[in-house]
Amino acid sequence: MSYEALNISALRLNDANPRILKEKRFTQLVQSLIDFPEMMRLRPTVVDEDGVVLGGNMRTRAKQHLLSLPEGEKEHRIERAVAARNIPEGDSAAAQDYTNELRLLLFGEEVPVVRALGLTPELKQQFIIKDNTSFGEWDFDMLANGDWPNAAILEGWGMDIPPGWGDDDAAPSDSPAGSLAERFIVPPFSVLDTRQGYWQERKNVWKERIGDNGESRNGTLRRSASGDDPSYYRQKSKAEKQLGRELTKEEFEADHYKRTTKLAQGVSLLDPVLAELVVRWFGLEGGAAFDCFAGDSVFGFVAAASGMSFTGIELRQEQADLNQSRTDSEELPARYICDDGRNVGEHLALESQDLLFSCPPYFDLEVYSDKANDASNQGTYAEFLAILRDALTSSVGCLKENRFAVITVGDVREKKSSGYYGFPADITAIMRAAGLHYYNELILVEMAGNAAIRAGQQMKHRKPVKTHQQVLVFYKGDPRAIKTHFPEIEYDAEDLESFAVDTPGESE
Ligand SMILES: C[S@@+](CC[C@H](N)C(=O)[O-])C[C@H]1O[C@@H](n2cnc3c(N)ncnc32)[C@H](O)[C@@H]1O
Repeated sequence: MSYEALNISALRLNDANPRILKEKRFTQLVQSLIDFPEMMRLRPTVVDEDGVVLGGNMRTRAKQHLLSLPEGEKEHRIERAVAARNIPEGDSAAAQDYTNELRLLLFGEEVPVVRALGLTPELKQQFIIKDNTSFGEWDFDMLANGDWPNAAILEGWGMDIPPGWGDDDAAPSDSPAGSLAERFIVPPFSVLDTRQGYWQERKNVWKERIGDNGESRNGTLRRSASGDDPSYYRQKSKAEKQLGRELTKEEFEADHYKRTTKLAQGVSLLDPVLAELVVRWFGLEGGAAFDCFAGDSVFGFVAAASGMSFTGIELRQEQADLNQSRTDSEELPARYICDDGRNVGEHLALESQDLLFSCPPYFDLEVYSDKANDASNQGTYAEFLAILRDALTSSVGCLKENRFAVITVGDVREKKSSGYYGFPADITAIMRAAGLHYYNELILVEMAGNAAIRAGQQMKHRKPVKTHQQVLVFYKGDPRAIKTHFPEIEYDAEDLESFAVDTPGESE
């Protein structure tokens, strides 16, 4: 028997090893190597004289997988692993040592091995079976009542947890104390009430920090309404179709001015508290978030300020530039790319992202530009939906396995019939066709604003004023394994203070 370091290319996976690992377990194994890379040294891979792996076949596969990751992703995983190690703040030498250790053990070409020399074929077989067999049993009472981590963590360490065991550790001994609102910032119910005091206070903090008032969308159409512009005539005929008659140049420009002035005054901005919840509930600290219809600065800014890097694709250059300048001014890890969201796959590698969050245009409810590929500027709902289908399907391809995609939508009424198009259902169908599970529907209740004034008029048509949007949550992967991929949600005292948490209902 001899200990040595072998280049991974010299190891030969043992095809005759009958031990297999399903995808979920493989992902857990990869994570377990990242969490505790020292295991590679403490339990070296066992090889025979020809470099055939007798013990550690799956670990070798996991290491090959880690080596195949893009360089940026490797660095990213190292950063996350260092952050997860609880190295005392300021101990940069310890952080650097651990970073080097991770580089070597996870992403270095060498593998610590122990060579088993002189085993007969029969002894090699015995070794493979015995190495993977456990004679003992777990004392689950001791695990539940002793000083052991909860079931989710043990499962993440590779333990087989009996069905039902650990389900009742809703308040495990190591969970942060406090109300639901304290632990999750807003109560984790399917109705998110933006009218509450805790929500509005938090929103104001973000708004002040981000400083986005939707100004880059003001009058975009108005500026480009000119006979030199090829889209001028398309806009004009669209307006004529809507009004049901031909328009003179002057009439069109006046109508255009009116429409775009309204647009300038009324642009909707994503709620930053919603953005923060999406990052904290469905994102991963240290991971990569993206949006194929980025729009304003809110999501990118909040994601990048909350521990995720961010990539936003936005069709309008001025919006992308403005967003970039805002995140750059705080040196946040966000980048904005001016392009059609359908080209997202040209900017992001397949299965490289940890969270998709998007608030796409709601058909032509707000028209953002007169660009031919602006989803909000299509002649028909079907054309609009086709753009969303392509962009979202490509986006799903960029999302890693076992990650969330969150799409905020509000239904839109057909002009002629006044009936809904069924936009949320169409988005759900698109995401499911792309292979995702439809996992949660959250209702975002909004401030009523002038709803009371509009209600009288609308109720003549039996149309209660809409004061909500839907936040549709999808999952790529097996939702039953979510708790092995996502850590428990905890908040520190600073979070709670800045959120000025109060219990729901108290602050209306
Ligand atoms: C609803 S906004 C984005 C949502 C944002 N959170 C907001 O409330 O402003 C939609 C954005 O999609 C952009 N957009 C429209 N068509 C696009 C396309 N084909 N590719 C990328 N972005 C597009 C528009 O310019 C607009 O900024």
